[in-house]
Amino acid sequence: MNKILLQNNITIFIFDSGVGGISIYNQIKKFFPKINFIYLLDNKFFPYGIKSKNFIYKRCIKILKKISFHYHISLVIIACNTASVSSFPMIQKYFSFPIIGITPVIKDSINTTNNGVIGIIATKTTLENYYIKKEIKYFQKNYIIEFLSSKKLVFLAEEKIQGLNISLKQIKKIFKPWYKLKKFPDTIVLGCTHFSLIIDELKQILPKNIKFLNSNTYIISEMKKIMVNYKFLFNLQKNIILYTKYTIKIKKIKRYLINQGFNFFKKIKI
Ligand code: DGL
Repeated sequence: MNKILLQNNITIFIFDSGVGGISIYNQIKKFFPKINFIYLLDNKFFPYGIKSKNFIYKRCIKILKKISFHYHISLVIIACNTASVSSFPMIQKYFSFPIIGITPVIKDSINTTNNGVIGIIATKTTLENYYIKKEIKYFQKNYIIEFLSSKKLVFLAEEKIQGLNISLKQIKKIFKPWYKLKKFPDTIVLGCTHFSLIIDELKQILPKNIKFLNSNTYIISEMKKIMVNYKFLFNLQKNIILYTKYTIKIKKIKRYLINQGFNFFKKIKI
């Protein structure tokens, strides 16, 4: 079978359980506007955040095997903290193309906190990950680290992208435990890509002057290292959305995705 080569150009494959990774895609597009993107929403298995590490690890391998069988992939971005912490570093040994994954940027928060209280919001699976727990424990020696996982917040981010009005009251309720703390975190690590999509809402309901950190800067710096090898970029873009299940949600988010520069939509069986 002939693999699909998009316009003789570099193709980046990005995936997440849903629309969360679009926050990463938007950032990459700003720095590298001339590359092709294939974005997969693994909505058949949304949400990832309550599934086991082993399940997600196997799912990631299955996705990359299938995609790389059909398309020429230059680089993969796992635009999902849950999928990255569940599959790294083991996943790299299966594929010859570079794979970039993301984890909550806990280390960066040390440089931005003034009051020594750092908040991490991520999915249950991410926060239960052995390496993440270990990292938190390490920084807890010198800092107060508060964390919370919320499936609801992931769903609210999806609803926003579907054009629905999301309730600020509901979001505030999720952060109730932090209002009982002596000091509210002055730095919040967004350890789930979905949360970057509702940053405006978070800013509205949480105390003023909180610094929000995500993995965007990390992704761009990693990409710059890899992209030095690609000198000839054409501006013939084909940006594809793949999804693993057709639902009404796909119909609802289509307009948004077209506005983000996607021009081809297709269901893929994985
Ligand atoms: N966007 C994903 C992350 O960064 C998780 C969303 C989900 O639970 O599926 O962890």
